[in-house]
Amino acid sequence: MMMQATLEKNTVTPFENTLIVPAGYTVENGQSIVGGVPVADLIATYGTPLYVLDGQTIREAARAYKQTLETEYKAKTLVVYACKANLNVGLCKLMAQEGIGLDVVSAGELYTAMQANFPANNIVFNGNNKSVTELEMALDYGVERIIVDNFDEIGRLAAVAKRLGKVANILLRVAPGIECHTHEYIKTGQNDSKFGFPLHQVKKAIAEIVNLHAETLCLKGIHGHIGSQIFELKAYEGLVDIFLTLANEVRSEFGVTFKDLDLGGGLGIAYTPDDDPQPIEVLMKQLANTVQSKAEALNYPLPRIFVEPGRSLIARAGMTLYTVGGRKVVEGVTPFISVDGGMGDNIRPALYQAVYSAVVANKLTQANTETVRVVGKYCESGDVLLRAFDCPTLEPNDTLLVFGTGAYNHAMSSNYNRIGRPAMVLVENGKHGLLVERESLAYLAANDRIPAWF
Ligand SMILES: Cc1ncc(COP(=O)(O)O)c(C=O)c1O
Repeated sequence: MMMQATLEKNTVTPFENTLIVPAGYTVENGQSIVGGVPVADLIATYGTPLYVLDGQTIREAARAYKQTLETEYKAKTLVVYACKANLNVGLCKLMAQEGIGLDVVSAGELYTAMQANFPANNIVFNGNNKSVTELEMALDYGVERIIVDNFDEIGRLAAVAKRLGKVANILLRVAPGIECHTHEYIKTGQNDSKFGFPLHQVKKAIAEIVNLHAETLCLKGIHGHIGSQIFELKAYEGLVDIFLTLANEVRSEFGVTFKDLDLGGGLGIAYTPDDDPQPIEVLMKQLANTVQSKAEALNYPLPRIFVEPGRSLIARAGMTLYTVGGRKVVEGVTPFISVDGGMGDNIRPALYQAVYSAVVANKLTQANTETVRVVGKYCESGDVLLRAFDCPTLEPNDTLLVFGTGAYNHAMSSNYNRIGRPAMVLVENGKHGLLVERESLAYLAANDRIPAWF
């Protein structure tokens, strides 16, 4: 559902649900300002489409995670940013400044972290099919934990560690059998998930590690991630309960005490006025208390807690700016408005019907007059960004500002139709600077080769 009110001068936000817009977003005299920088200035400097990230929003979320856990939990904690949500070297540096670690899932993500000299002891490596090269990179760089996903990976990692003469500190990824209410594509904790050991196979995996690979694999604990865009905190309570019960059984059966408990990410954000996410502080407090009381009941030593937020650290910080191109009107159909981006820079609406909120940045003081369908410029009928957008009359060169695009937009973007990815800028305290350059035409053809026999 889209909303846009007629704005008075100096309105703070166009939405009643202020969580939709970045913390550093205001409207002054009809102008959208973010991080102290007018959106119009960003467009004049960088053009459109453009990803904009508000540093204040990211830092506030990072501090909410870190400080709440540190205050509420009586043992060690580590917040690692699930950087699949959005990654570049500058963002690695920002996270490091905030004392946040990284959850990487590929050689490319680890390489990006290395380019930022990211501290290895704050990196965990996830993924259901890590290659030998990726495992070697992880061991060479000395990442804090490798999260082992399946039986094949136990053997593969043990062999790599043996060859390199290293010991791998590992967590076992466990599918806890929890169903949560979110889109099927972003559920991961259910029994039939492709990720992790189902509960009934965990002890077999531990026996294999302890009996066959004690010299190369050091089992530090378990890991679970139940899904993404989750609003019910009860699911996390269930996860803690299942994991500590399992830990207790493993202690008595194998004499192995888990030092670490990684509870994954998944907290939801407000994309639309209907979304009512729980504050980060509430979830972190609940996790700390649930782990503490369950551990106490089992007389289990408090493990170090890891959490892996992606979306809830960065999605709200992001906005995408587009320029309106044309209008197509067909009787009996919602009018089409085309913008200069689309599914190449935001695949989520096409992939799983994701819904976004938006405003017309240069017409904030005008009343809504129509409902349109905002479509991209890519050659797919499914390239629809906003299905029913209530807005003032849209004309060519108007600026569409879509909120909540900080996570899984640039990260899932493509060069479909040989269209370059947009630039990404960071805004903070009245300053703006590039995090990622716009992809040029030359960049698009840079890896192309012509076979020798042509
Ligand atoms: C293992 C793991 N951790 C953390 C995350 C981050 O999830 P979210 O962005 O919902 O916080 C994901 C997302 O897929 C994941 O697979």
